Amino acid sequence: MSENIINRAVEILRQNDLGDYTVPTHGLYPFQWNWDSCLTALGQSQFDEGRAWREIETLFAHQWDDGMVPHIIFHKEDDGYFPGPEIWATGRPVPTSGITQPPVAGFSVARLAARAKNKALAEEKARLLLPKIQAWHEWFYRCRDPEGTGLVAIIHPWESGRDNSIDWDEAFKRVPTEGVLPFVRRDTQHANPDHRPTQAQYERYVWLVQRFRSLGWDNDKLHDASPFQLVDPGFNGILLRSCNDLADLAEQLGENAIAAASRARVESGVAALEQLWDEGLGQYRCFDRVAGAAVDSASVAGLLAAFAPIPQPRKAAIARRISELANRTRYLVPSHDPADPRFDGLRYWRGPIWLIVNFMIADGLRQGGLSDLAEQIDQSSLDLIGKAGFAEYYDPMTAEPCGGATFTWTAAMVIEILVGLGMEQK
Ligand code: DGY
Repeated sequence: MSENIINRAVEILRQNDLGDYTVPTHGLYPFQWNWDSCLTALGQSQFDEGRAWREIETLFAHQWDDGMVPHIIFHKEDDGYFPGPEIWATGRPVPTSGITQPPVAGFSVARLAARAKNKALAEEKARLLLPKIQAWHEWFYRCRDPEGTGLVAIIHPWESGRDNSIDWDEAFKRVPTEGVLPFVRRDTQHANPDHRPTQAQYERYVWLVQRFRSLGWDNDKLHDASPFQLVDPGFNGILLRSCNDLADLAEQLGENAIAAASRARVESGVAALEQLWDEGLGQYRCFDRVAGAAVDSASVAGLLAAFAPIPQPRKAAIARRISELANRTRYLVPSHDPADPRFDGLRYWRGPIWLIVNFMIADGLRQGGLSDLAEQIDQSSLDLIGKAGFAEYYDPMTAEPCGGATFTWTAAMVIEILVGLGMEQK
């Protein structure tokens, strides 16, 4: 049974493989996405290590001079996606978007290197990628934490990957729509509109893009110019985990300066994350830097921070919180608490389960010695696959498959989970 699932997952990775990069799914997302690729490489590495390294190398070949790694690389034309390269107008030789995405590369590269069968290849590739990932991390702290708080902000919901999370609702009231040029959405032609962000949200997404474009995509200006500056504990948790794992890798490769700088980031970042802890809820919450206030929303971002090297008591509290959620949903881990009236089990990041999030939370819990719950989360992920196939996301009550189908990173995570459980492909 699990062998069949792995074979099907490998087939999906191959179907979506365009040679040097993998599309998340054909139609809905026809280009290379940043964190999709880094997590996809984990699945690819289980059957083709060379291909996995190439996935991440291709992404970093499009790193900006200032260190940023964009969230989309528009390798070739495809008018089936909005907003395409002409809307971003970033002026890159190969067009890219002008914002970034959760920096999972440090974690992925360290993991690929640690378990590589081809050690020589892994060392060669890791040595090449190490300074590039370090430059990206430093870019975050320079451009997205200008006051040196230890935590970075996102300036567009697309950067979090959790586009329409309830976390952004209040802050989005500040983002205007005047001056937004007329546009035609393509996402709703590929996926059920009830599973996607609303038109009102899209107008604000586009307003932010137009605003940043008008500033020439100058990252020295964008943070302060954005009416949307949100400190996301999940995003920061991913960055801190990547800094931590990059430090380990750098030490192994004798790159002591990178190791020391990364360790210092982890230390100050983990300490700063404490400001986002909500003792009553037993999880972290987002912080709105413009409003100067915590966001009133118990989203999965506050649980995803378990992926970071946070103190064990924090992981244990997050585990209790997830067990509480398990009483309210059939499957784990919903992207929002169903007790909140704003929860919507079908609409993208307002309730549905995402397997990449499950994977990262389970991994972080395991590192904190909370293996039972980690196994329960893995089992939920496998149950969803068994019931509904390799969807983009799932309704946590019914397992209804939502968004795009035959989804790359869902397949990659299933391979990771099953191989982690010791059921390797024969
Ligand atoms: C989309 O187009 O839905 C993406 O999430 C933006 O990256």
